[in-house]
Amino acid sequence: MSSNRIGIDALAFSGPDAYLALADLARARGVDPDKYTIGLGQHSMAIASPCEDPVTMAVQAGQSALKKFGIDPDEIGTLIVGTETGIDHSKPVAVYVHELLGLSQNCRTFETKHACYGAMAGLTSSMDWIASGRARGRKALVIASDIASYGLNTPGEPTQGAGAVAMVVSADPRLLAFDARRIGDYTRQVMDFWRPLYSKYAFADGHYSIECYLDALAGAHQDAFAEADGPDSDTELVACLYHIPFVRMAFKAHQRYLEIIQGGPIDRDHPSQLQALKEDYQRRVLPWLSLNAEIGNIYTGSLFLSLIDLLRQQSSDLAGQSISLFSYGSGCGATYCLARIQPTACDWVDAMDPSAALDQRRKLSMDEYEQLIEDCSSADQQPHLDPSDYGHRSGLFYVGTQDHQRQYRQQEKA
Ligand code: CAA
Repeated sequence: MSSNRIGIDALAFSGPDAYLALADLARARGVDPDKYTIGLGQHSMAIASPCEDPVTMAVQAGQSALKKFGIDPDEIGTLIVGTETGIDHSKPVAVYVHELLGLSQNCRTFETKHACYGAMAGLTSSMDWIASGRARGRKALVIASDIASYGLNTPGEPTQGAGAVAMVVSADPRLLAFDARRIGDYTRQVMDFWRPLYSKYAFADGHYSIECYLDALAGAHQDAFAEADGPDSDTELVACLYHIPFVRMAFKAHQRYLEIIQGGPIDRDHPSQLQALKEDYQRRVLPWLSLNAEIGNIYTGSLFLSLIDLLRQQSSDLAGQSISLFSYGSGCGATYCLARIQPTACDWVDAMDPSAALDQRRKLSMDEYEQLIEDCSSADQQPHLDPSDYGHRSGLFYVGTQDHQRQYRQQEKA
């Protein structure tokens, strides 16, 4: 089997029913709204209720990927859930997801944690599983599912969000095939963002975390091109996808990428250099960031949300073309890789596009948002939660913890 054909066969997003407009948050915090909408590039952020957790979002994204792409649950031989937002010190999110998706018992199932990097770790591991021959023709399901929480009145507050992206990985992918010889990795122990066991909220050294991200991009890129005579250069990429904690981060990342490629710094005070940087960013990066701008930081899934945005918009024009993907997880771990858009990707645009669900979302007032954050802080120990109290109508919901066991319920439309 050619390891250069392995890749993503199906993709789907699922997220919370409600969102907060960043302009409303800015006004409430006494900040100029332009700082959030222009400075960070964010319009709104998805806010989870106490009944929405990494399990419910992962299951709904997984169901959508399997159903809309016509994949039988019995075809799945590995399930990996990448998450920063674990719900138990011991039991993985993945095993709940395994049961609720009705996957085969002869399925390898586990959770990966490395801040925002867990899903990329899962994706590359599942590709290795297929390349090794151990998959025996089966597919892997990799799901990124997270709730990004920094707490009220913190610098990270406007960079929150929530959601899950499910990806089916196969030897004959319909959407994206990776170039196994152009996958570069990078690891360095840094304290840029972390969440101790006793804390619901992340701690971040925000400006330092941006530096760590950019250094990791350089390190992972260098590793991807360590083999000088390997296939494909990355000068002809039609799209450059990055981990997106907030949209403007991609501008900083793309500047660093161009500096790496050009072998020298870009001087933003130099009008023609700034103009060239902006044009390249607007052509190869910004068009695929509209979902991220509406949903916010979904940690492990952020990069793949941008991939959905790319594929749903232009897959027919981009068939056969190469793109790059950069995943960064604080702490830190990173991967830079190249992949090729499959000619069949354009047939699956409707299956991937989450716009209909996003149009149904409920806009929160500041009071409702702050109440949800308060309710979520004690949700793990509530014996009974009623999804209708939070405006939910149908879907899978977390409904409380009994005898220290989390309970889930599928609710149909009344
Ligand atoms: N109009 C337009 N732009 C404005 C503005 C205004 N009125 N006011 C400020 N800005 C701009 C600033 O110039 C700045 O842009 P540049 O960086 O391009 O100069 C931008 O808005 C942000 O302003 P500040 O840097 O002053 O904002 P801040 O000090 O409040 O912190 C932050 C921003 C560091 C991103 C903070 O939100 C944070 O800590 N976020 C969490 C950490 C994070 O997201 N890190 C990203 C890298 S780590 C990672 O990627 C992993 C992960 O997912 C966490």
